[in-house]
Amino acid sequence: MATNRGQFNSRLGFVLAAAGSAVGLGNIWKFPFEVGAGGGAAFVVIYLAFCFLLCFPVMISEIAIGRKTQLNAVGAFKKLGHHNWAWIGLLGILAGVFILSFYNVVAGWAFGYFLQMVQGNFEIGQNFGSYISKWESIGLYGLVFMGVTALIVSKGIQGGIEKAAKILMPTLFAMIIGLMIYAFTLDDAMAGIEYYLIPDFSEITGEVIYSALGQAFFSLSLGMGALITYGSYVSRKQDIVRSAAMITLTDVSVAFLAGLMIFPLVAFLNSGDMSSVSGGAGLIFATLPGVFEGLGPILGIVIGATFFLLLSFAALTSTVSLLEVPVAYLVDEKKIKRPVAVWGMATLIFVLGIPSLLGNGAVEQLTSFMTLYRDGQEQMISFMDFVELIASDTFLPLGGTVIAIFTAYVWKKHNLNAELMEGRETNSQWMMNYINFAVMFFCPIILGAITIITILERFF
Ligand code: PHE
Repeated sequence: MATNRGQFNSRLGFVLAAAGSAVGLGNIWKFPFEVGAGGGAAFVVIYLAFCFLLCFPVMISEIAIGRKTQLNAVGAFKKLGHHNWAWIGLLGILAGVFILSFYNVVAGWAFGYFLQMVQGNFEIGQNFGSYISKWESIGLYGLVFMGVTALIVSKGIQGGIEKAAKILMPTLFAMIIGLMIYAFTLDDAMAGIEYYLIPDFSEITGEVIYSALGQAFFSLSLGMGALITYGSYVSRKQDIVRSAAMITLTDVSVAFLAGLMIFPLVAFLNSGDMSSVSGGAGLIFATLPGVFEGLGPILGIVIGATFFLLLSFAALTSTVSLLEVPVAYLVDEKKIKRPVAVWGMATLIFVLGIPSLLGNGAVEQLTSFMTLYRDGQEQMISFMDFVELIASDTFLPLGGTVIAIFTAYVWKKHNLNAELMEGRETNSQWMMNYINFAVMFFCPIILGAITIITILERFF
């Protein structure tokens, strides 16, 4: 289909771009600390089950909706449903805008750490708290990061997004494997691996389940229309089911490998004592520089800089997709020219991120923003945690539930199946059966129930 909206050039291009969206800070920064906070391997097991059983069918629905309509998140729902359904897309876009607003701040940390490592400043790990409170420098890194993101998005689909993903994703994979092998050679590596891989199911609480679900959606970039948007640039010759399987597997493997890389390092640093590992936003930022320092000045700089460069690359292919969602909306629906939409949105989102930037120590009211009840305990959270809780942990699973319901009962399952058969490369029926079952019953019921319980428990 010839469109002037742009299209991915090849299946590999689409899969890499979508996997680039999925693989990000969520995998390398957030996943390990969620594992740490959620008690280790039990979290991993639940997370994997959610990814494959609940998220994968939602991903397929999103890509199918996008490819069928060749439209942005709002336009797609309008076209397949009715004007009244545009709100799902709008909520998704809003969620994406807020996710990017804080995501960009963390990306700024990562990029700043890269610069620190290059200079051999390993003490930064102990000063993580004061480092992130310096809003001037973090703000500057965030500005650079948003600028590079906007530059890529302004170049469009093939020349910008696809090209960047084709270079960045393989580099990232190579770096992760290299660091993981290195981590295995360290003393006490085994203690870290055991902590990560041997589940203790007594650690599972309601909170662990909710955060595993939120993490699964966040990590796979689902529930807000990012994959509807990317799906709208996919050719009809591509097998959606197969591509979605590749994207899910890549994302889950990178998260899994990131854990395999980080926990041996943490164990090495704590001389094998994993009892004090509790997770938290500082897990990789506070602990890893100390590990790199132990390698001696030259190797420490090389490995340390490589790691944080990797983290920045991973974040970049995700910020690109987050920005593309509102941009596609403005370009399709409001007929705004791409460069204007890109730079306008990037500026707006950067500004929306300022409270998150200031809420890490610079401004007290934003740092201790509100009290939350988690597993019956009071906990003080920052503005950034708050935005994450609403936009990511709550809205993404909610969006996923509504997307499944929309696909099965508004767009209707026979239309979904017809779309999935276009470009399908195999005749295997069991997969199609599962997708149908999941979209009609499993996702609306299970996903819906967990989402509602989470909202009730957390906010009421
Ligand atoms: N999946 C990305 C990550 O893991 C974050 C993201 C969420 C990107 C939602 C796009 C949409 O870092």
